[in-house]
Amino acid sequence: MAKIMTLHKLYVKKLKQIVKDSGLLPSYVARRRSAERYLRGEGIEIGALDHPLAVSPLAKVRYVDYISKSDSAVKHTQLIPDEIVEVDYIDDGFTLSSIASGTQDFVIANHVLEHSPDPIGALLNWSRVLKTDGILFFSVPIGEKSFDRGRRITTVEHLAEDHELCLSGKQELFHARNLEHYDEYLSVSLVTIRKNLGNPALTPIEKAEMLRRFRDEPFTDTHYHVFSVDSLKMIMKFLTTEVDLSLSIVEFVKSKGGLEYIVVLRKK
Ligand SMILES: C[S@@+](CC[C@H](N)C(=O)[O-])C[C@H]1O[C@@H](n2cnc3c(N)ncnc32)[C@H](O)[C@@H]1O
Ligand SMILES: [Zn+2]
Repeated sequence: MAKIMTLHKLYVKKLKQIVKDSGLLPSYVARRRSAERYLRGEGIEIGALDHPLAVSPLAKVRYVDYISKSDSAVKHTQLIPDEIVEVDYIDDGFTLSSIASGTQDFVIANHVLEHSPDPIGALLNWSRVLKTDGILFFSVPIGEKSFDRGRRITTVEHLAEDHELCLSGKQELFHARNLEHYDEYLSVSLVTIRKNLGNPALTPIEKAEMLRRFRDEPFTDTHYHVFSVDSLKMIMKFLTTEVDLSLSIVEFVKSKGGLEYIVVLRKK
């Protein structure tokens, strides 16, 4: 059975490569182009999983994730285990408590910000670990082009409230607010994910059990927030002018044919 699964994964991988080489599907070319242009020296990539950013030989990357490579392989059974990066720092990528301030030439986080319950807090920490002139390179999926289609788009006001509540230490209130995000994820995103995989919809009992587990866990990895191109633009404008992130925008680029947008910022 295990052998059949491995053969199946290899077959799927080969098929994906053929489609990729054909140029029919949107690719990560914009990520590579911006990485080549801006990333030099030593830095970290948060949540690389099986898609570490391709960087030039002038950049040395260490990998941060909240779980190890083997735990990720268990969690994401659809992935080929050997393609998942070895994690150098097992740490919460939104607080980065194991990384000293002002030590990194760059921070990379592709498709990670939407997993943060407090994106402003995450961005402040990403900025904190950068040296002056260091580069923050992140990308987010565009909600309506992903399995999050149909969910509410996160506003600037919402992020400001999340950050305030997180700072206030009112953990129970913050958790209750995040439970709403998770409920929406289960009711919209997971329905699409399961449909695409050919799996039946969650039963009400299964859904209730997942919500119960969320309540009991300190952190659940999910898409808390959802961005559109306009909301992302507004959020970045607000954060670089109204909040002291100490970052200025260098590039705002459409990537993967509009499925995601890349934001490149420089530490002042
Ligand atoms: C959707 S994957 C992104 C994979 C890859 N970067 C890409 O662009 O496709 C999200 C990654 O973020 C990681 N992640 C989620 N929450 C995290 C946290 N609190 N701290 C560190 N990593 C986290 C996950 O384990 C996973 O590796
Ligand atoms: Zn929120």
